[in-house]
Amino acid sequence: MIQKIQTLSGYIHEYQKSITQPEEFWGRVAESFHWQQKWDQVVSWDFEKPDVKWFLNGKLNITENIFERHLYTLGDKPAIIWEPNDPSEASITLTYRELYEKTCQFANAMLEQGIQKGDRVIIYMPMVPEAAIAMLACARIGAVHSVVFAGFSANSLADRIIDCQAKAILTSDGNFRGTKTIPVKAVVDEALEKTRTIEKIIVLKRTNIEVTMKEGRDIWWHEAIEGVSTAHQAEVMDSEDLFFILYTSGSTGKPKGVVHSCGGYMVYAEYSFANVFQYSQGDVYWCTADIGWITGHSYIVYGPLLAGATSIMFEGVPTHPHPGRFWEIVDKYKVNQFYTAPTAIRALQAYGLDPVEPYKLDSLKVIGSVGEPINEEAWHWYHDHIGKGKCPIVDTWWQTETGGILISPIAGVTPTKPAFATLPLPGVQLMIVDNEGNELKGNGVEGNLCVKFPWPSMLRTTYGDHERCRQTYFSSFKGLYFTGDGVKRDHDGYYRILGRVDDVINVSGHRMGTAEVENAINEHPKVIESAVVGYPHDIKGQGIYAFAICDLEGRTEASLKEEIKQTVSKIIGPIAKPDQVQIVSGLPKTRSGKIMRRILRKVASKDLNNMGDTSTLLNPDVVEEIIKGAGL
Ligand code: PRX
Repeated sequence: MIQKIQTLSGYIHEYQKSITQPEEFWGRVAESFHWQQKWDQVVSWDFEKPDVKWFLNGKLNITENIFERHLYTLGDKPAIIWEPNDPSEASITLTYRELYEKTCQFANAMLEQGIQKGDRVIIYMPMVPEAAIAMLACARIGAVHSVVFAGFSANSLADRIIDCQAKAILTSDGNFRGTKTIPVKAVVDEALEKTRTIEKIIVLKRTNIEVTMKEGRDIWWHEAIEGVSTAHQAEVMDSEDLFFILYTSGSTGKPKGVVHSCGGYMVYAEYSFANVFQYSQGDVYWCTADIGWITGHSYIVYGPLLAGATSIMFEGVPTHPHPGRFWEIVDKYKVNQFYTAPTAIRALQAYGLDPVEPYKLDSLKVIGSVGEPINEEAWHWYHDHIGKGKCPIVDTWWQTETGGILISPIAGVTPTKPAFATLPLPGVQLMIVDNEGNELKGNGVEGNLCVKFPWPSMLRTTYGDHERCRQTYFSSFKGLYFTGDGVKRDHDGYYRILGRVDDVINVSGHRMGTAEVENAINEHPKVIESAVVGYPHDIKGQGIYAFAICDLEGRTEASLKEEIKQTVSKIIGPIAKPDQVQIVSGLPKTRSGKIMRRILRKVASKDLNNMGDTSTLLNPDVVEEIIKGAGL
């Protein structure tokens, strides 16, 4: 097990060591894992290409580090506790030994179905224990999983299948979410009309809704594992073998497949989990994310299980059947570390204290936040009413691309500060630069957040398009990884994330590219052109505001707006549905034809101060019209 940092001076010492002797530092951390063959070099890197490798020529399997490494001591300890959507349904606890056997069995079942090392496997599943088993079984046999959030549309699913040329899909008949039963297999069937590579679909029975099964291609999960051995020898993976792909939105077109590799991801997932949350054996840890996001990968499945933790998986939503559900679950399992998103905190805060008061919440030691900046008001509410003033809030800043938390307080060890992610974890060398790439040294500065030295769990490439990876992350500022976030380092040297500086909107902690939403809107036959911007939203952090030039013939404005929203929901998924649509006759453009989003952002946020000079626009009159149309 990893040695945790326990004191502030310990943090300072460890941080110093990690930057002055990174190889020695990470080599020592990696020693606590089980390697089938030890690495012969800790790191090699070049941010120009980019080419980053960690623990070179090391051989391992991450599931051996979860299971074989822990079974002797932790075999009977709960690994996963699953809480169903419906509180009257029985919960499920899987010990490390049970999870191990189920993982091995499903690994064998996948092999029997012809899925092998290196094959890409899409996991499109609800939050059930089998989703974690699916991920672990892929890891066990060296298949590359790409989990797709089950709220994504058939179209988004198809794009991802095509991009990674997936061979198999692991899915379910349906999904229970709150009061709804959502068809899942039917969405897969629809996606498959557009794809050609899928040879196998394994379908878990969850809701018992009727589904179509195609002979020879589709098989039920329970049939696939019937009579299959629960013993399996883990595949030997190279440190730099592809571990998983996770698609995420960027500022351009389609989502890209962020690629993580085996060795570095494993080391950083456990290191960051154990330290940030200060997990102690016997604690019960709960992260409310979905496994479709990186948070679910690193901090429901891999980080906690590598650390031998008990990790809760919740199938439902925070407000079902009542808005005290989260707190009820905290008390039910005596949760010690609770990790959620600001959007959930704000949504629950809006219900007032009545739903919180019936619960003791006295088991909580650490509470966490992830996915978007947490505003001070939500921070204080969380701190006072959930943490009861005694739990440090770990405001963890990181990204799909970083694989693990890079900036965060270490619970109870380093200080917290409302709305600040505070300090980098050991090994994380940040740099703030201005728009020209000049380093902004010292404290009291604000600029673009970059990282100047590799960390083990950083992305290695974007699947099938290395140049895109270089362009997106390594070309804005020479020799640096650029995060896309703006940041402030205050007078005490603490970091506060200010939000994206690119065309990415963060809606309820989910990343959406404005271009991606625009492309979807433009699919509507009545839309001629559109522009999408983010605006401040009380609950979601940011909402989506779409301006669209349309042909209104045969439609009312109201009906067309609704159709546009539905189009986006259908093409990307409900999470990308615009909150507001404004039909306009033109969009403000520069003389070179570029849309002036700055102006649209001002209108969307109802802030007409400092509109800047609009006289240089190609069509200055349109601005007045847009302002009027927005009711301002
Ligand atoms: O803008 C930052 C925001 O979420 C982005 C990363 O999104 P994604 O890859 O979907 O990963 C989310 C979960 C790790 C970042 O570029 N973000 C994430 N955490 C924080 C945050 N913004 C402010 N504070 C945070 N703690």
